[in-house]
Amino acid sequence: MSAVIVAIDGPSGTGKSSTSKAVAAALGLSYLDTGAQYRAITWWMLSNDVPIGDPEAVAAAAVRPEIVSGTDPGAPTIAVDGVDASGPIRTQEVTAAVSAVSAVAEVRARITELQRSIAAGAVGGIVVEGRDIGTTVLPDADLKVFLTASPEARAARRSGELKGKAATDLSATREALIKRDHADSSRKTSPLMKADDAVEVDTTQLTLDQVVECVVTLIEKAAAEKDGGSGRAERSAAAKAGQISK
Ligand code: DC
Repeated sequence: MSAVIVAIDGPSGTGKSSTSKAVAAALGLSYLDTGAQYRAITWWMLSNDVPIGDPEAVAAAAVRPEIVSGTDPGAPTIAVDGVDASGPIRTQEVTAAVSAVSAVAEVRARITELQRSIAAGAVGGIVVEGRDIGTTVLPDADLKVFLTASPEARAARRSGELKGKAATDLSATREALIKRDHADSSRKTSPLMKADDAVEVDTTQLTLDQVVECVVTLIEKAAAEKDGGSGRAERSAAAKAGQISK
């Protein structure tokens, strides 16, 4: 298979991370979790007492932390100034602050540049997951997928992930998700948005395995098309999965 660049976008709770890691592992591609990068810079801001409610202070600090992402889908890593940040970036404190930090244009410019250089260096191809990958970061990606799911399904999945880590009830999780999606979709710089040429997959009624199978098929078709294949890539995969609109 040729080295493909795949953008997977969508709101939280749609199965983006699980799907992206699984398809990258199945196809021998690298994997980049861009949400982890925004979480990492947010964690650094909180740890360094940068007032995250002050966009000018956040903008001024945006160049300071060194953020390094490991792109093995079997063991993705994230480090800030040489310190493993994979635990701290998942705290409620970071989750509550990340939308404000990631709305600042200077933060997005810094992280977008990092993402483009990682994608350019991934010689074997890469799956990049986020919110604005197909629209802004990698507009020339070989395949763009936009995952959606009902708010109920997304809240149920997110509650499942949080189980044991934090006391959480479904309606509170649903409200928090909707609030974060609204902030991410309505920000001025590079909002969460489906690219015109993205393939939309509604995961509400699908298992993770079904979503993975669908996206693997889409990638294989896109790779064949890139190699000069028949060119019916997304449509035939869509028909096979029966869950896709474009
Ligand atoms: O996928 P996640 O929940 O870990 O992402 C955390 C936050 O980062 C999310 O609320 C929005 C932001 N984000 C973004 O603005 N752009 C991206 N490409 C990825 C994430």
